[in-house]
Amino acid sequence: MPNNIATVAYIIAAALFILSLSGLAHPKTSRRGNLFGIIGMLVALIATAFHLNASGWMMFLIALIPAAIIGATLASRVKMTEMPQLVAMLHSFVGAAAVLVGFATLLDPHAQLAGSELLIHNIEIYIGVCIGSITFTGSIIAFAKLHGMIGGKPLILPARHLLNIIVILITIVLGVMFTQAVGDHDMTKALWVLGIATVITGLLGVHMVMAIGGADMPVVVSMLNSYSGWAAAAAGFMLSNDLLIITGALVGSSGAILSYIMCRGMNRSFISVILGGFGAAEGTAVAVEGEHTEIKVDGTVDLIRNAKSIVIVPGYGMAVAQAQHTLSEIVKELEAAGTKVRFAIHPIAGRLPGHMNVLLAEANVSYDIVLEMDEINEDFPETDLVLVIGANDIVNPSALDDPASPIAGMPVLEVWKAKDVIVMKRSMASGYAGIGNPLFVKENTKMLFGDAKKNVDAILTAYRTG
Ligand code: TAP
Repeated sequence: MPNNIATVAYIIAAALFILSLSGLAHPKTSRRGNLFGIIGMLVALIATAFHLNASGWMMFLIALIPAAIIGATLASRVKMTEMPQLVAMLHSFVGAAAVLVGFATLLDPHAQLAGSELLIHNIEIYIGVCIGSITFTGSIIAFAKLHGMIGGKPLILPARHLLNIIVILITIVLGVMFTQAVGDHDMTKALWVLGIATVITGLLGVHMVMAIGGADMPVVVSMLNSYSGWAAAAAGFMLSNDLLIITGALVGSSGAILSYIMCRGMNRSFISVILGGFGAAEGTAVAVEGEHTEIKVDGTVDLIRNAKSIVIVPGYGMAVAQAQHTLSEIVKELEAAGTKVRFAIHPIAGRLPGHMNVLLAEANVSYDIVLEMDEINEDFPETDLVLVIGANDIVNPSALDDPASPIAGMPVLEVWKAKDVIVMKRSMASGYAGIGNPLFVKENTKMLFGDAKKNVDAILTAYRTG
């Protein structure tokens, strides 16, 4: 393929990636966004493949075919609730790729740069390898934490901030030594220095993510997403590949924006998240003062029948139980009976951004009745009944009225302002942040214990037959 056609192909692919991102911003257009992304990637792959000679083709196919099979199998098998782990694992590949590209570029016998060009090239290699290494190890730890292989509790080493600063300073010194060694054509020294920097920044990645507690993991995954983008952009500079630079920058900046949005959703500053130390293990029962009131399915159906307006708050438990399809059926029945039903979505409900929106869209719930927190929070005082389904932290009033709470200041869905609240979960256990929830013992709250899917199935049957 002549170079100018390849350039046009790269521009088309870059435009398709931008269209893909804008499509993915809304559930209505997300399928189209996905399709643009797939086509963009195909165009990029074909354009790249046409540059190759025979042995290049061989390597290309050896890498591509098994990777495509493994990727497609993994993606089709992964549960929606395990998506963050998969994403973290994929980020680790990008990090590893950036490290390998860095070493390969350094060892490239065809490199013919000199003077300031060589210096800039070496800085690109060094930065790419360091970011890649942090991304690689950080993502592996994030994967292990999200998958429950390592506990969610933050690892707090003594003088950890000082430790991080020392590591960063050593990395800068090593960077200077590296560029000097390459400038002096001392490749053995350059390789050693780059190797040591890879290990040190890898340890920094481990330490940074180990110090971050369960409740902040979503931000970390999106932050690693951003890092993986910058690592890819750095690889693009090393390989002089414009498309990789553009794609990396798109991923890097969108990951950074997403991290910012999530921090805002949790009312936490990005810096305090990175510095870590917040959040405990999931699923522990944390005592709150007061007695809770239990309700059964029949009582729940009575309250549903008598309500004129209902708001449903889905959370992680709804996703685990896969209760969204039955919920969609219940909503249809209620709407047919003239009840006003809406869903309230907290920006960090579930385990990944947009988790609830995707599940509800999959269950054919109309977008018009799925509202964001800001759109619905003021309506709770006029709501007859709120059904909280497998949600916990996002409806925790202590975020607003207990300054000592670890989630103090985090915006939450103020469901307790409604006339009645029914919380469906299996026990009094805590949610992801590992903290107690005073909502469960409020006077107007009733607890319907059990698996969310079993309970909503029973509610639908009782509603239809009653
Ligand atoms: P959580 O606070 O984690 O609460 C979910 C609740 O669902 C749990 O308390 C659990 O209680 C219940 N549950 C689990 N399985 C269930 C089942 N089969 N049937 C019924 N209930 C079930 O979830 P949330 O309210 O959605 O809040 C999200 C939390 O996750 C936040 O802390 C957030 O920071 C964190 N997080 C969010 C993201 C993003 S970006 N969305 C990513 C990672 C983490 P029982 O055990 O008693 O049933």
